[in-house]
Amino acid sequence: MKTIAVLTSGGDAPGMNAAIRAVVRTGCENGMKVLGIRRGYNGLMNGDMYEMNLRTVSDIIHRGGTMLYSARSPEFKTEEGMRKALDVCKENGIEGIVIIGGDGSFRGARDLSLKGVPCIGVPGTIDNDIACCDYTIGYDTAMNTVMDMVDRIRDTTESHDRCSVVEVMGRRAGYIALNSGIAIGATSILIPEIEFDIEKDVIERMKRTQKTDKKHFIIIVAEGVSEKIGGVATLAKHIEEKTGVESRATILGHVQRGGSPSLRDRLVGSQMGNYAVHLLMKGIGNRVVAMQKEQVLDYDIYEALNMKKSINLDLYRTALEISI
Ligand code: ADP
Ligand code: F6P
Repeated sequence: MKTIAVLTSGGDAPGMNAAIRAVVRTGCENGMKVLGIRRGYNGLMNGDMYEMNLRTVSDIIHRGGTMLYSARSPEFKTEEGMRKALDVCKENGIEGIVIIGGDGSFRGARDLSLKGVPCIGVPGTIDNDIACCDYTIGYDTAMNTVMDMVDRIRDTTESHDRCSVVEVMGRRAGYIALNSGIAIGATSILIPEIEFDIEKDVIERMKRTQKTDKKHFIIIVAEGVSEKIGGVATLAKHIEEKTGVESRATILGHVQRGGSPSLRDRLVGSQMGNYAVHLLMKGIGNRVVAMQKEQVLDYDIYEALNMKKSINLDLYRTALEISI
C-alpha cells in the first residue's frame, strides 16, 4: 500500500493520540503516505483530511482527546454515506484505513472492508467493552481518574459521616465501576452485568457495617444501572431514609474521558497503532487489533463483533467479601 489513512470515531479516549502517532510514524517510516481524517466517518464522507508526517504527530503522546477529533456519524450508515466515503477513498488513492474507536466504529470498518477498502480497527474506548480484548485504550486512565476523584469525595464523606453515591461511566459495561469500586473500597458496586436488589445489596450491607461502627460509605453505580433506577440522587435519598445516614450523589461524567493518558494507555496505543499498520502493509484488512494476556493479536472483525465478554465474577465476589 502506498497511501493509508487514519481516523478516530465514537467516544474519545485518552491514548488515542498515542495510537495516531504510532500509525503515522509506522506508515512514514515504511515509505507510505499517511492521511489524517478529521471527525471520524464525517471527515471520510466529506474529504476532510490532510497529509501527516513524522512531525505532525510530535507533542501529542501525552495529551488526552484526539488530535483528529471524533464524531458520531449516522449518515455513514446509509447507502448514500457509504457511496460518498468510497468516492473520497478513490479520489485520494486511499488503499487502507486504521479506524480507532469502539464496536460501533468497527461495524463501519467491516462495511468499508467489504466494499473493497481494507480497514483495521483499533480498540479505543474507556469502557473496555470490546469482547475480543482484555484491554482497550483509555480504560486505565479513566479508572485512575475515577479513583482520584472518589478519593477526594471520600475525604469529605468521612468528615461528615455521610454516604456518597457516585455514578461512573459505562452505559452497557461495569468494568470501570467494578475495578475502581474495589480500588476505592466501595461498600456496594452496582453494574449492568450483575442483577442486584437495592435492599439486599446496598441497604442491608450498610446496616450490617454500621453495626461494626462504620460511619461513612461510598456506593459506586455504573451509568447503565443509574439510568434504570432513576438516577443516583434517587438512590441517595432512599439510602438516607432507610439508614439514617446523610447521603449525597455525584455524577463524575465526562471528566472520566479526558486527561493525560497513563503509561499503560500510551504504551498500548503505541503498540496497537504500530501493529495495525503492519497488517495493512501485508495487504490484510477487515481485522481488529486486540490485546490478550499482554500480547497484541488480531481478529476478523465479524468474529470479533460476535464475541461475548463476561464480567470477572471472582472480582465481584472479592469486592463483596472485602469491602465491608
Ligand atoms: P463507538 O465506536 O465508540 O462504539 P458509536 O457506536 O457511536 O461509537 O459508532 C461510531 C460511528 O460508527 C457511528 O456514528 C457510525 O458512523 C459508525 N457505525 C456505528 N454502527 C454502525 C453500523 N452498524 N454500520 C456502519 N457504521 C456504523
Ligand atoms: O466512552 C464511552 C462512554 O463513556 C459510555 O460509557 C457512555 O455511555 C458514553 O460514552 C457517553 O458518551 P457521549 O456523552 O459522548 O454520548
